[in-house]
Amino acid sequence: MVGESGSGKSISALSVLRLLDERHVRYPTGEIHFQGEDMLKVSEKRLRQIRGRKISMIFQEPMTSLNPLHTVEKQIGETLALHKGLRNSAARKRCIELLELVGIRDPESRLSSYPHQLSGGQKQRVMIAMALANEPDLLIADEPTTALDVTVQKQVLELLRDLQAKLGMAILMITHDLTIVRRYADEVAVMEQGKLVSMQTPKPCLPIRSIRTHASCWMPSHPMRPWRSRAPPSPC
Ligand SMILES: Nc1ncnc2c1ncn2[C@@H]1O[C@H](COP(=O)(O)OP(=O)(O)O)[C@@H](O)[C@H]1O
Ligand SMILES: [Mg+2]
Repeated sequence: MVGESGSGKSISALSVLRLLDERHVRYPTGEIHFQGEDMLKVSEKRLRQIRGRKISMIFQEPMTSLNPLHTVEKQIGETLALHKGLRNSAARKRCIELLELVGIRDPESRLSSYPHQLSGGQKQRVMIAMALANEPDLLIADEPTTALDVTVQKQVLELLRDLQAKLGMAILMITHDLTIVRRYADEVAVMEQGKLVSMQTPKPCLPIRSIRTHASCWMPSHPMRPWRSRAPPSPC
């Protein structure tokens, strides 16, 4: 899902899990379907089962989601206890497996680390491990790499792609970076002013050209360089 800052990407993603405060939010029209259920109609009890178990979410800034006062083991362990009933040695074993899965080196020694003892990339990996703890069918990643430097960004994106194939889950990736779209997306949804304005399949070849019509509407006003001044995409 792409669109300029403020176009409603995060709001749409949060709506899928009904995480917005419903004292202030209304859904006057439309439906949100997930595995045959309309998320706007299911009960609060059912929503709690789906959140974290069938659909997980990772955010742009890991520090807003990681508790600075808890160790890595405690943060991942809470999710495992809540949804899987795992505790003590069984939870610890699963924590280590998850840290290995997301490519954290020497995972056993990392269990007792606090967030401030981890690099940006490691924190984002821990966030991904927490999101994967219950093997979700859908992972929503809201600009998961924007806060990371370019090299780590690539590693995390490659990790997500590998995990998607390995675990057979779907990923809704939210980004404003068209290079990421071109490299990773199977389908592209373009948001503008709170509305979904197009839905396209960019692959297999020269995908970016097809989304440029919409992209050119918003890229010039974006703080990044205007799309037209960039080098054209190389053929695939
Ligand atoms: N469908 C909508 N209806 C009403 N307001 C919206 C809608 N989508 C977005 N907004 C408003 O726009 C702001 C920015 O949306 P957000 O989803 O955070 O944008 P993005 O993630 O694309 O940067 C929100 O805080 C909200 O006030
Ligand atoms: Mg956002």
